[in-house]
Amino acid sequence: GHHVSSQRVRFQRRIRACRYDIDQFSPSFLSIFESLVPSEEEIAKQNQLLIALSRLITMEWPNSKLYLYGSCANSFGFSNSDIDLCLSIDNNEMSKVDIILKLADILQAGNLQNIQALTRARVPIVKLMDPDTGLSCDICVNNLLAVVNTKLLRDYAQIDRRLRQLAFIVKHWAKSRRVNETYQGTLSSYAYVIMCIHLLQLRRILPCLQEMEATCYVTVDDNHCAYFDQVDKLNNYGAHNKETISSLLWAFFHYWAYQHDYTKDVISIRTGRIISKHMKDWTRRVGNDRHLICIEDPFETSHDLGRVVDKFSIKILREEFERAANILQYDPNPSVTLFEPY
Ligand code: GTP
Ligand code: MG
Repeated sequence: GHHVSSQRVRFQRRIRACRYDIDQFSPSFLSIFESLVPSEEEIAKQNQLLIALSRLITMEWPNSKLYLYGSCANSFGFSNSDIDLCLSIDNNEMSKVDIILKLADILQAGNLQNIQALTRARVPIVKLMDPDTGLSCDICVNNLLAVVNTKLLRDYAQIDRRLRQLAFIVKHWAKSRRVNETYQGTLSSYAYVIMCIHLLQLRRILPCLQEMEATCYVTVDDNHCAYFDQVDKLNNYGAHNKETISSLLWAFFHYWAYQHDYTKDVISIRTGRIISKHMKDWTRRVGNDRHLICIEDPFETSHDLGRVVDKFSIKILREEFERAANILQYDPNPSVTLFEPY
């Protein structure tokens, strides 16, 4: 359980020299990664559903457009995960809630199943199940920032394959250890992917796309999103760094267990650096945002992806980072022990 003695952890940290040769574990981590990747067939089904729903919805709203976002579009999705869709619609007469209710009616008439309109959620959505493909999905309205950050993540994933491998394994660890539950004060999958990108930026395996000359611009509300998106020109970027997946995994957990300064630091993939909590005025609790672990959203820079973490869950998270770092350092069978269910 979540009861690693911190004294024991600190002691182990000093005797680092006796660790195993970590690289020998890469093949077993890579086979876990392969087992989680969705099949071509599944991706084809997702696109089939996108097309069917787009047809149905544009019959009613010709100027609307349906986008895939989240894990099924950012390339960090596991096999069998739910599909996130966003309906973009310009309609000044209807409120978001009215659009959600109307959308639920349209879907009902289109023979989709298990339709639920969640109008009072923080992000209002319609849930549904498609009997033809067996897929479940959530549709939100006009959440274009999520569509843009989905593309940013997908673009980063194309630069170096190690990002996708690392993030899959970290997400799998987080789900196995139950620290991927935002309603319980732990971090979202989106936050874990950002943490992986940050680590690879510091190790010069990934560039900082938002600091490069912009080739892609979108303004969503008041946020100007701009970055270099011609990533096919960057596919050699990290080649000088030969670190293997298991050593990067070790580096990830070691960073969050022992190196990150939780009192002062904010990680920022927007700048490719660590920036200070002080500079962002994230040094104290404001409303419900406690800023106990600070992860800057790349576009919505006032948004701390760690805001959900409270004084109880920060302890659980940090103990889990330490547990993982120690397993990678000392366990003879880390690719099994790391994912032992909590
Ligand atoms: P899994 O469903 O766990 O496989 O991952 P996911 O990539 O779908 O992640 P998640 O459910 O955490 O987020 C879905 C999408 O919502 C992300 O890809 C982002 O585009 C968007 N998003 C934007 N801001 C936030 C945020 O603060 N929290 C979360 N959870 N998602 C955000
Ligand atoms: Mg999701």
